[in-house]
Amino acid sequence: MRRRSFVTLGAAGVYSALAGCGRDKDGFNMRDAPKGPITLGFSQVGAEGGWRKANTASIKKAAERNRIDLNFKDAGGDPKKQIADVHSFIDAKVSVIAFAPVVETGWGEVLRRAREAKIPVVLTDRLIDEKDTSLWASSIGAEFAAEGNLAALYLENDYAGVKEPVNVVQILGVAGATPTKQRAEGFAATAAKGGRLKIIDEETGDWTKDGGKAAMARLLRRNKRIDAVFAQNDDMGLGAVIALEAAGKKPGKEPKIVTVDGTKAALEGLIQRKLNYVVECSPEIGEPLMTVVVDLFHGGRVQKNIRSEKAVFDPETAADEIDDRTY
Ligand code: AHR
Repeated sequence: MRRRSFVTLGAAGVYSALAGCGRDKDGFNMRDAPKGPITLGFSQVGAEGGWRKANTASIKKAAERNRIDLNFKDAGGDPKKQIADVHSFIDAKVSVIAFAPVVETGWGEVLRRAREAKIPVVLTDRLIDEKDTSLWASSIGAEFAAEGNLAALYLENDYAGVKEPVNVVQILGVAGATPTKQRAEGFAATAAKGGRLKIIDEETGDWTKDGGKAAMARLLRRNKRIDAVFAQNDDMGLGAVIALEAAGKKPGKEPKIVTVDGTKAALEGLIQRKLNYVVECSPEIGEPLMTVVVDLFHGGRVQKNIRSEKAVFDPETAADEIDDRTY
């Protein structure tokens, strides 16, 4: 029997977009959206790991399936290039602009320009730090703080009954990105509530396997006793496994490792008992994005916040899921 533990934390539902008519509550007049063949300008963060590649594949496939002409640009992790790419979409007069921001800051000017050009904007995966929320019509992605909550909750429960504090190190994603901030906040909040987990150190691993490996090596040099690792994504967690094994440790036993994403590689890591727990963050944003793009194009009203469901995996549930995992 297939077992998959699903978690919904007050989410609005699985990627459902509301279609209707008129002006949204933030004042964006959807009827200003241009008419004609639909062109989507999409700016991606980069190709930093398994999750991102799956996210790009989902967007490209859904664009093709929905017959949307996709103008895809890869920012290569560079916030300046990403903003320049979004300017180029305005110059090209695309129907809708969507982007997964590398970092949260720096978006005001280009988004005001998009509004003047009457091009609706959709945020995917991550958020931006702009007070004027009417600058974007919709945002589609995961609940990052809840992912951090769930990662800490697993460790809290796993160490129930242990008297001494549990020494946890954290491997962070790129500074200034929404998941880096919110996963850390969620993890810290649940750890503070439980009182058992002590976050003793942290390092950035830049979302990559190599970055995670280097971060883990630095953490090992600085810290004598590490009971658990919270890696903010699978790639960094799998990199940490390599560094730990090179240092003669037994990842999955000492220390325990918890990650976020739910890629096939991480499910394999769970089955091999080198990872202990994985919180899923779905990269499959393509279809819900195209639904929103089509609704915007036809002047419909769209849901402002669209959040995905998530599952959690341990070695047993990973074994049930692995054959169906496509990324
Ligand atoms: O924004 C989502 C995060 O970005 C994923 O967890 C990570 O793998 C990616 O780089």
